[in-house]
Amino acid sequence: MRTLVFATANLGKKEELEALLGPGWLVRSAADFPKLPEVEEDQPTFEGNAAKKAHAFAKATGLMALADDSGLCVDALEGRPGVFSARYAPGTDGDRIAKLLGELGDVPAGQRTARFVCALCLATPDGKETFTRGTCEGRIIGTPRGTHGFGYDPIFELPHGKTMAELTRDEKSAVSHRGAAFRALARMVSLSPIG
Ligand code: IMP
Repeated sequence: MRTLVFATANLGKKEELEALLGPGWLVRSAADFPKLPEVEEDQPTFEGNAAKKAHAFAKATGLMALADDSGLCVDALEGRPGVFSARYAPGTDGDRIAKLLGELGDVPAGQRTARFVCALCLATPDGKETFTRGTCEGRIIGTPRGTHGFGYDPIFELPHGKTMAELTRDEKSAVSHRGAAFRALARMVSLSPIG
């Protein structure tokens, strides 16, 4: 059994990763290590933030550590909110959605293309690192739809016409940026294990 610590407090993400890695792996989370360092996500790229967290956790625990960073990149806004997705506006997910729709204004449907991006970094205590990235293409609609998920899901419409918030958890994992990045990681560690 190989062990890794996933630098997240989000149990849903941990369960999604466990299901994809299979029984050969023991996945621990930040919750199992009460004295972990607080890591500021101040890097200009998703990969930079993921690497910063993964290396800090690998060093602090002596275990192989995985960290993710994700966000929404809107083409008409030159990639915003990007790495600032969580902090784009103070308040709730609804406040951030309202700000994004306000910034987009009356940009026509054909120019509202966007993608969710998820970068993963797997780091070893001796400083080795490896990355995967998953993306999910869609477009930003004007009126939120759906009640599942979180964040910008209700305004992100997939090519088949449903928003991310209209998908079940398993349906979302099959098409999402995070699901794609997790599957790429699972393939990678099964082919060329690091650590
Ligand atoms: P984190 O990398 O999990 O901290 O996510 C950063 C931010 O990006 C979140 O707070 C959301 O605003 C946004 N985000 C990332 N993934 C998703 C998703 O699957 N759905 C909706 N919003 C997301």
